Amino acid sequence: MEVMEAIEARYSVRKYSSRKLDAASIEQIMEAGRLAPTASNQQLNKHIVVTDPELIRQMVDACEGQKWIETAPAILVECASGDRTMICGQSARSMDGAIAMSYMTLEAVSLGMQFCWLGWFDPEKVKKLLNIPEDYVVIAVAPIGYPETPGHRSSKKPTEEVVVYNRM
Ligand SMILES: Cc1cc2nc3c(=O)[nH]c(=O)nc-3n(C[C@H](O)[C@H](O)[C@H](O)COP(=O)(O)O)c2cc1C
Repeated sequence: MEVMEAIEARYSVRKYSSRKLDAASIEQIMEAGRLAPTASNQQLNKHIVVTDPELIRQMVDACEGQKWIETAPAILVECASGDRTMICGQSARSMDGAIAMSYMTLEAVSLGMQFCWLGWFDPEKVKKLLNIPEDYVVIAVAPIGYPETPGHRSSKKPTEEVVVYNRM
């Protein structure tokens, strides 16, 4: 699947089928994260794949009770150490993590899976549950798997509302 096809095929899924992810697919998704760019090529992020059903169940509490995440066969958790603010004012590690998570999830879509990006989680609870060291930031959480039923992406603003050429 071409990159644009994966972008067009993506939509947030909140109910997954019981189909597990095979090891080769997980490795391919991780490879997409490994090759993602990072600020100064520091590569301080870790891509955690949670597949243990008991841990997934406990992630519900860490994700503010979003019970539907239990249906996912895996949950990706993106975290990183050594956060710093770049000259542009943005967190280097948040940026690195968002890019890696985007690469991984789009690769997953290219393999027929879907995901849902979560910002509604308690980073301290996630850290405790997954043994993530204190000096790490937890950037994003994404349940991932095969959708229970086909869905569709939410509507998006038209091009002219979001694209600017030259000055705003
Ligand atoms: C940064 C971010 C945080 C999000 N947090 C949550 C969340 O905690 N729970 C949830 O159900 N969806 C969450 N979403 C999914 C959005 O609601 C979804 O992407 C949006 O409604 C657009 O729908 P689409 O992904 O199908 O295009 C989040 C998405 C992003 C990008």
